[in-house]
Amino acid sequence: MTHPARHLSDLVTERRSLLKAGGLLAVSAASPVTFGALLPRAKSSLAYASLPQVIGLDHEVAHGYRARVLISWGDLIDPKALRESGGKSRFNPTKLDAEGQKRRFGTSNDFLAFLPLPRGSQNSSRGLLWSNHEYPAPVMMFAKSTQSAEQVAITQAAVGGSVIEVERGGNGDWSVVAGSARARRVHVGTRMGFGGPGATSKKLQLTADPGGGHPYADCGTLGNCAGGKTPWGTILSGEENFQSYFGNGPEDYEPETKEGEVNINFDSKGGWVTGSYGWEKHDERFDLSKNSDGPCRYGWVVEVDPYSPGSIPVKRTALGRMKHEGATTTVTRDADGKARVVVYTGDDQIDACLYRFVSEPTEDPSDPVANRDLLDRGVLSVARFDREGVTWVPLVAGEGELAKHTQFASQEDVALRTREAARAVGATPMDRPEDVETNPVNGRVYVALTNHSGRSKANAANPREKNKHGHILELYPPPGYGEAADHTADRYQWTFLLLGGDPSQPDSGAVFHPDSEAWLSCPDNVAFDPLGRLWIATDQGGNQAKNGIPDGIYTMDVDGAGRCLAKLFFAGPIGCEVCGPEFTPDGSTLFVSVQHPGDGTGMTYLEPATRWPDFASDLPPRPSIVAIGYEKDRGRVLGEEE
Ligand code: FEO
Ligand code: CA
Ligand code: CA
Repeated sequence: MTHPARHLSDLVTERRSLLKAGGLLAVSAASPVTFGALLPRAKSSLAYASLPQVIGLDHEVAHGYRARVLISWGDLIDPKALRESGGKSRFNPTKLDAEGQKRRFGTSNDFLAFLPLPRGSQNSSRGLLWSNHEYPAPVMMFAKSTQSAEQVAITQAAVGGSVIEVERGGNGDWSVVAGSARARRVHVGTRMGFGGPGATSKKLQLTADPGGGHPYADCGTLGNCAGGKTPWGTILSGEENFQSYFGNGPEDYEPETKEGEVNINFDSKGGWVTGSYGWEKHDERFDLSKNSDGPCRYGWVVEVDPYSPGSIPVKRTALGRMKHEGATTTVTRDADGKARVVVYTGDDQIDACLYRFVSEPTEDPSDPVANRDLLDRGVLSVARFDREGVTWVPLVAGEGELAKHTQFASQEDVALRTREAARAVGATPMDRPEDVETNPVNGRVYVALTNHSGRSKANAANPREKNKHGHILELYPPPGYGEAADHTADRYQWTFLLLGGDPSQPDSGAVFHPDSEAWLSCPDNVAFDPLGRLWIATDQGGNQAKNGIPDGIYTMDVDGAGRCLAKLFFAGPIGCEVCGPEFTPDGSTLFVSVQHPGDGTGMTYLEPATRWPDFASDLPPRPSIVAIGYEKDRGRVLGEEE
């Protein structure tokens, strides 16, 4: 199936006729797509030769480009510690302690945000780089994982986030600015503020931390998966799988991950019997028998100001509580010219939903002080898809469709029990909403849905009952193209951009441009370059070997003759997922996160699948950030013609 450039009305008409004929799946199954089958070949505007889809011990990047490791788990970033080390700072994980980890780059780097220096500029040669550190992987961090007090303290210091300062040298290579005063670690010991309607909830106060949430809590942040940037130069970090860190919950607890079931209520009536990392054994904050409301302090979007090393991050409760993935922002102006900030965020679990937050109007989106608490005031809505479009249903206690659901007495209730509110208004259960991104050129919104292990009932926007390979939706805010898109509208139109899978397999249901040079599975984090082309990071979970293709960065146009023509630009090493694609403002550098390299079933610190990127016998594989640019630095957008 091809996707030449068409008007929105054509796309919608086509989608309607496809659905009437039995859905996109039926069409693609009747017209199996074979790569390169049609002549003349369509051309992608991304002018590089696609990599072969091979899983290797090292990373690979397309010919004409170079991909260099910028920083890895354990690299020293604290300026004082760097000075004291006298340059002898080679990481030795066997000597690591918690205080040392707090001075070093964390593990499992995920979402990345490049923030130019000076603040407010478009400098693409020097800036701050924020990295999420999603979760600890004890079997890859320690030769023997024991869940001892010392190991737990190290893992608590290894998650959260990092700020590093980076610069591009004359040869085009990026390096970390050693000793930068802005270098910073945020972890589970970092003091956090709370803002918005949930901030004063008593559930944020624990026996272990009676002051919690009023206004600060000593809870730090964890599960930091994807995120976004605000127009005023802060970053938003989504707390995702926070349930993994709690233990000693009620015995009658039903595991949330049970196939086909969704625990929509994260408050103290939930609970977790055994945590994944042993934290409950050594830290009462994570022991549900002593602090049953502990999980209420996580599952938020956290705002951090990397330009201000001493600033206290704030959890923005108006954006709801769930397994937040991305939190990407765009701005729409009212008729009177006042800007509203719009944040799209996904809840990454099977059958969970897609959300949108619209701030109250503001006059100056570029003023960091004026906008400091902008994300505390506004309306959170949830997406309800039908075949004709998508409706954003406001989740406001006592108003609209939520008014008859009296269990939400206040907005605090909605903030803490957002999933329950979404279900009450009939929001659409989705196939794991991951990253959401607005195209800077066409103004449309793209939603990556990673997969679904098996839904009981397909729906319009999630058409496959067993969706092993995920898909990407394309949303059309009315009334027009680019800046004319109104991201505050109640209703959008939508279509599919792609349905993942191997189109050469019968009944795959995959939909790509037939001239695609690669296929992809499990789209996760996405980014647009300044020309509006889509760069897709994939996470096949445990299915990399089964699918036989690497996780990496795949690219495609979303408009024109090359729409949905997939190619592979960067392949990560075996065992990893690739995440956090992030361009410099000029599009000439792409930073990517390589998370959990060498990991997988049966893999350990001593016997990993690869020792990327050091390939040293005394080091395990290390999660790292890679900077990708042209071999000959030209300062142009990646993927341009020679
Ligand atoms: Fe942490 Fe949804 O990936
Ligand atoms: Ca992810
Ligand atoms: Ca993104």
